[in-house]
Amino acid sequence: MIKKMKKILMMSMISVFVLASCGGGDTEEGKEETKEQSKKTETKDEKPSQPQAVTIEIEGSDDMKFNKKLIKVKEGQEVTINLKHVGELPIKSMGHNWVLLKKDTDLDEFNMAAYEAGIENNHIPESDNIIAHTDLVGGGEQTSVTFTAPAKGKYTFICSFPGHMSMMKGTFLVS
Ligand code: CO
Repeated sequence: MIKKMKKILMMSMISVFVLASCGGGDTEEGKEETKEQSKKTETKDEKPSQPQAVTIEIEGSDDMKFNKKLIKVKEGQEVTINLKHVGELPIKSMGHNWVLLKKDTDLDEFNMAAYEAGIENNHIPESDNIIAHTDLVGGGEQTSVTFTAPAKGKYTFICSFPGHMSMMKGTFLVS
């Protein structure tokens, strides 16, 4: 017992000695550097911090509906959309995707282009109006897409499978 205590005491003394040496070795230059570093940290904290990444779960069903009509995110936020087709119908008859469109998109025009793109292209046309999109999935399948939220504003998301847009449409709100 006493031996053990002696050992601990010795160890503590060594630690104190080591610490004291380090402290004594601290030069003016070293102190300045430390000050600079803390200044930098303060500046960093003052800046508006990058919003944390967010994951949004959305479901598409056999009755041609998304379970969400509104998705809210922050500008510059990394957004992951997980689209799950909770139905059973196959992709050819009830395919779902999730497409985020730019504000000035002519929806009818886009819808026509999506139809023409065909199922082999996930009904995703070549278009400058797409901000982000998933692939097309059938019943029981899921897919996802990750992207950076665009500038503040109100956007529209749709399923671009032919005939689905009127039922499968929602608002993507960026604040
Ligand atoms: Co659909």
